[in-house]
Amino acid sequence: MGDLLVSLYDPGLERLGQRTERTDLTIRPVLAPERHIVVAWIQRHFSENWASEAAIAIGRQPSSCLIALSNGQLVGFACYDAIARGFFGPTGVAEASRGQGIGAALLHRTLLAMKAMGYAYAVIGDPGPARFYIDAVGAIEIPVSGKGIYADMLRTPRPAVVT
Ligand SMILES: CC(C)(COP(=O)(O)OP(=O)(O)OC[C@H]1O[C@@H](n2cnc3c(N)ncnc32)[C@H](O)[C@@H]1OP(=O)(O)O)[C@@H](O)C(=O)NCCC(=O)NCCS
Repeated sequence: MGDLLVSLYDPGLERLGQRTERTDLTIRPVLAPERHIVVAWIQRHFSENWASEAAIAIGRQPSSCLIALSNGQLVGFACYDAIARGFFGPTGVAEASRGQGIGAALLHRTLLAMKAMGYAYAVIGDPGPARFYIDAVGAIEIPVSGKGIYADMLRTPRPAVVT
């Protein structure tokens, strides 16, 4: 599926907030001195690409990378304005913590942060779990062809396979 578009003025965003409200979860922007911890965590749990994107987001002021903490432990993250202005992502929740509403809570808080920054829409670039965004915030596919901003992206070379 291609890039998705989300209206930040859709009433569904407020409903998502009501559904994901939790007192046992802290969601807040990453502080500059935490950058190395968060970037290493994302690299370990997800990928070097996402760690690179998060490093850019954390370097913004205000930081455009939010983290979710449960009992003081980092369990998830979500960024915006990382690969391009107005883009949501990357985002991820530690495998052991999935299915508890943390990803949806991060999505809600990050989209609210984007709205506060003056955006009316958010783009979700090359989404993996498109259904997650369609169901949570009524995201719709942007009808364009091609890989968009990710076309021609440099990738870490894979080690040669010795046969
Ligand atoms: C996608 C991801 C962030 C969701 O986080 P999560 O904490 O497990 O999600 P939640 O528990 O908040 O789920 C909220 C809702 O979305 C649904 N959902 C969760 N993951 C989904 C997926 N991969 N596909 C479709 N629906 C999904 C849940 O069933 C739930 O539905 P409900 O409200 O009807 O119960 C997490 O699965 C993840 O880190 N995946 C790997 C990284 C990734 O793909 N990131 C997105 C890149 S665009």
